Amino acid sequence: DLVIEIVDGRLPWSSSNPIIERLRLARQRPALKILNKSDLADPKLSRVWLDWFKAQDGVDAILMGEEDKKASAARLPALCSKLVPHRTGEVKPVRALILGIPNVGKSTLMNHLARRKIANVADTPGVTKSQQRIELQNGMILYDTPGLLWPKVHDENSGYRLAMAGSIGTNAYDQVDVAWFAIETLRERYPQALLDRYGLKGYVDDVEAMFAMIAKRRGAVLSGGRIDEQKAAELILTDFRSGALGRITLETPDDITEPPVDGEPEADVAEGGQ
Ligand code: G4P
Repeated sequence: DLVIEIVDGRLPWSSSNPIIERLRLARQRPALKILNKSDLADPKLSRVWLDWFKAQDGVDAILMGEEDKKASAARLPALCSKLVPHRTGEVKPVRALILGIPNVGKSTLMNHLARRKIANVADTPGVTKSQQRIELQNGMILYDTPGLLWPKVHDENSGYRLAMAGSIGTNAYDQVDVAWFAIETLRERYPQALLDRYGLKGYVDDVEAMFAMIAKRRGAVLSGGRIDEQKAAELILTDFRSGALGRITLETPDDITEPPVDGEPEADVAEGGQ
């Protein structure tokens, strides 16, 4: 009857599944979008995203964070019922498909909803492996789905943001490359965050030099004084994921790019470099 989609509140658009969205619209099903990890997101931009989602037909949206998880989970059945008022009671219980990419916090929420431990919570993409059917106390039926990404992320920046958030397996990207992207993004959007976190005096123009400064400040240096790039990259990404860099949102609705029209070949990320 409806789709509950958990997105990462720090990248609400990049972490939303475009394929399910197309199917949902084609089948005219409403959606409840949960902007999770909002305790790590920029509160001002969370408001902007909330309004953006709510402005869409048949869509409701809520923010959810670490502290309010229990209370927000308790509100979900009522919010879902409101979206599908024709389904009521035991005869026609609400049936919802719940989905979300890896590491977005789906298992954590499901555990709150089901009030017992039903899945391993882990910071490893792809932990939820099989579909589960869970009946909630009000009779609502939730169909859980494995945390999966879609086959091709069409926007290169979205790919980087997903990697920053830890939703892509570490074997699929170069951490140093993603850490550089993180520095570029933060420099543009949250200029004070890197300076405060790493005690830097100011920005230097090139990202490589900035990366090296951070590596030195955090002791990511090999014998002989060379930068330990891997260690520095891991430090930066961990700092972003844990919130040590502050409350950060990586994109706004202005960053949305349209996917290629069905049937048209998609741009290959490697194309430009050949
Ligand atoms: P998944 O099923 O979607 O893959 O995600 P899962 O619930 O396993 O959550 C992934 C990580 O995100 C976990 O951290 C979890 O605690 C954390 N998380 C979930 N919801 C929120 C939230 O609203 N705010 C914040 N800040 N974190 C959230 P972890 O480091 O793997 O484990 P843990 O030791 O922190 O529990």
